[in-house]
Amino acid sequence: MIRFGVIGAGNIARKFCEAANGVEANLYAVASRNIEKAKDYQKTYGFEKAYGSYASMFADPLVDCVYIATPHGLHYEHMMLALDYNKHILCEKAFTLNEKQAKAVLDKAHEKGCFVMEALWTRFIPTMREVQSLVNEGIIGDITKVEANFCFKASKEDDNRLFAPHLGGGALLDIGIYPLTFANLFLGSPKKIESKVDFYHTGVDLSSEIKFIYNHATAHLISSFDYTLPIDGFIYGTKGYIHMPMFLESKQALIYDETNNLIKEIKQDHMVNGMEYEILEVIKCITDGKLESPIMPHSETLSIMNQMDEIRKQWNLVYPQEK
Ligand SMILES: NC(=O)c1ccc[n+]([C@@H]2O[C@H](COP(=O)([O-])OP(=O)(O)OC[C@H]3O[C@@H](n4cnc5c(N)ncnc54)[C@H](OP(=O)(O)O)[C@@H]3O)[C@@H](O)[C@H]2O)c1
Repeated sequence: MIRFGVIGAGNIARKFCEAANGVEANLYAVASRNIEKAKDYQKTYGFEKAYGSYASMFADPLVDCVYIATPHGLHYEHMMLALDYNKHILCEKAFTLNEKQAKAVLDKAHEKGCFVMEALWTRFIPTMREVQSLVNEGIIGDITKVEANFCFKASKEDDNRLFAPHLGGGALLDIGIYPLTFANLFLGSPKKIESKVDFYHTGVDLSSEIKFIYNHATAHLISSFDYTLPIDGFIYGTKGYIHMPMFLESKQALIYDETNNLIKEIKQDHMVNGMEYEILEVIKCITDGKLESPIMPHSETLSIMNQMDEIRKQWNLVYPQEK
């Protein structure tokens, strides 16, 4: 059984642990910079081992796969360190700060023969996978347009990681990656990108509107830490359209024909909280000896990092680690 080691005892790690326990994955070790926090996680989620530093957990030979749940400005250094210890990796989104870092990690993983996957949980959810199949089979004809938003009002306290440049703050890498992923799932990578941004005083993006231009389609993608919009995804085609309310969670899809009649509804609750599907995929891939998942291939991680690089270039947004 694959033994997981978790680093970064924060918000999303809690959801990961709940999901892992819900599908009886092996939560073997947890590491925090603060041993008391690690021990608290150990007690709550039933880990066998608790460590007070990430490196000491990586040095444990019984850890097979590390789940990295630190802020994305630190993913590069944490993945590189985990690979020094030959660990398989599941790393939270955004995978790294930029494509260059992502490529360096993936090259090293390849050399070491380690499995690596970006934890873009939405891709693995059964309803999202079913919608992809139906679209590929032509249920709404040829895609002409995609729309997706992920916006919420974030707390503007100075220590919020969401606005910290050195931690990879900004809406694009944190939440904008979901609308971008939605467009990529149904239209692939764009021919051209146009964008509009508002900055926060720390220098990272607060809100943006992005237009992806394809040969015969466009995608309109909004992300913001400044205002709230429904977190909806729409896929429009020549024969109808699909509405995915709260597309991140992908629990529901409503499929309409060209006369606006509802022709199909898919509704499926998660087994736990939605993160279990990516966990099961990691276990399956590692057990089968794969180095990457066909659902979240390395090429997709690199392509989306490349698109975010291009968007940040348009905004002159450079992270301190890139200077
Ligand atoms: N998949 C999803 O739905 C989802 C949702 C939210 C976030 N995320 C991603 O998950 C990652 C973590 O997000 P989060 O919301 O869980 O963040 P968080 O609550 O702030 O937790 C991050 C953890 O990283 C560790 N850390 C190490 N160095 C740090 C530093 N210099 N500053 C702050 N924290 C540091 C800390 O753990 P220790 O103190 O234990 O070392 C901290 O608790 C991000 O990359 C984010 O994009 C994914």
